[in-house]
Amino acid sequence: MTHQTERIDMQRLPRHIAIIMDGNGRWARSRGNRRTDGHIVGVESVRAVIEAASELGIGYLTLYAFSTENWNRPREEVDMLLNLIVSVLANETEGMKRNNVRLRMIGDIDRLTPEARASLENSMAETSGGTGLQVNLAISYSSRWEITEAMKKLAQLAAEGKIKPEDITEETISSHLTTASIPDPDILIRTGGEQRVSNYLLWQIAYSELYFTDIYWPDFRKEALEQAIIDYQSRERRFGLTSDQIKTAKK
Ligand code: FPP
Repeated sequence: MTHQTERIDMQRLPRHIAIIMDGNGRWARSRGNRRTDGHIVGVESVRAVIEAASELGIGYLTLYAFSTENWNRPREEVDMLLNLIVSVLANETEGMKRNNVRLRMIGDIDRLTPEARASLENSMAETSGGTGLQVNLAISYSSRWEITEAMKKLAQLAAEGKIKPEDITEETISSHLTTASIPDPDILIRTGGEQRVSNYLLWQIAYSELYFTDIYWPDFRKEALEQAIIDYQSRERRFGLTSDQIKTAKK
């Protein structure tokens, strides 16, 4: 255990960590390499972060691997990125199983080729018995897409007379999102220096702590994750209440 790990309060770990993995292209460019090299090294960060989160006992890790908007990148980069994600997951399925990790996808994976989809579905099925860390991979995901889909489903149910408009609550909306049954993230981390949320989990991060770091994703490893958790633990989450109310509730 490193000195830094000891500074983490194991009683107050975030239950759910969401990450926007940004800066792969700039990391590679700053070394005079092709952008795609950044994605390849970024895979090592994914592995390191999954391992560290799993060892700490974090419940859920949600990684933004490919956004709806990423479909508009040059064809070569899109193909490379999706092939990389699919092949890495296929190779890592056994290791995830051994480590009790459960893999789930959030996103419009129907847009992938049937082979890619079948491979991802196989990884999910193979790891479905995992009772440790749940890794949610956002692939072909955007928040406005999933909210639109949820609204369509609810409108359909209403049109069929199965629900009444007044039956729609925050819980019904949550349960029609791709993250149904996953608790909301406690912290959203974005690497790569930008400070925005880029159409990621907009509904779910209503009360999440936001953590921005300049570190490019390929350099974001265990120490950087621990640093984010330590920062998170130094904050007071009030959920709209006053400090005094929070202190009284804790007693
Ligand atoms: C953002 O960097 C990163 C992505 C769009 C892809 C992230 C994907 C990986 C790290 C591979 C994931 C693999 C698995 C198995 C989940 P960018 O290209 O937008 O960088 P830039 O902002 O510097 O251009």
